[in-house]
Amino acid sequence: MKAVNPRLSRRRFIKAVIASSAAAATNAGVHAAMAQNRPQGTVERLISLNVNGKTRRVDVMPQETLAYTLRYKLGLTGTKIGCNRGECGACTVIIDGVTNYSCSTLTHSVGSRQLQTIEGVAGADGTLHPVQQAFIQELAPQCGFCTPGQVMSAVALLNENPHPSREEVRQALSGNLCRCGAYDNYLNGVMRAAENG
Ligand code: FES
Ligand code: FES
Repeated sequence: MKAVNPRLSRRRFIKAVIASSAAAATNAGVHAAMAQNRPQGTVERLISLNVNGKTRRVDVMPQETLAYTLRYKLGLTGTKIGCNRGECGACTVIIDGVTNYSCSTLTHSVGSRQLQTIEGVAGADGTLHPVQQAFIQELAPQCGFCTPGQVMSAVALLNENPHPSREEVRQALSGNLCRCGAYDNYLNGVMRAAENG
């Protein structure tokens, strides 16, 4: 039987993790189930969001979080929900150039600001962002759950500061917890992306 190079098969796994972050999916079943638990008397209001350069019209409850809207109404499931209380950073998105925890942001508060999610990081032709490419090259993710949030924090940093020090990268990613402890891998990835950028 042909031996499999473990580094190559792991790289294939990581590519799949990062590619699946960019894939839109529908969650009609989940949304329908959660809608049944909606508080009595809650009224949705139709609003427009600017998501990844496109205007998206969506019905939103007053108390609805951005993470919920993105995942369960707009099908943008690359944004993950870990703690759902502003502690882990898995839900990180960029609003007008600034990272935000989407689990702790009310959708109604976003208004007309420019919202970028992990699905909007790669180019229109599918070319991965230098951060995503560097994370693959560094074999950065372990389970991959925190990866979209790590990518968003890194992208926001490099937009502001294309050549950060390692300490500046560490600070920028300090709001993104990784239960696999792959912190050094992510730091190496951002430093590589900065070199390649
Ligand atoms: S899910 Fe938003 S900070 Fe953890
Ligand atoms: S790679 Fe598993 S939580 Fe970060």
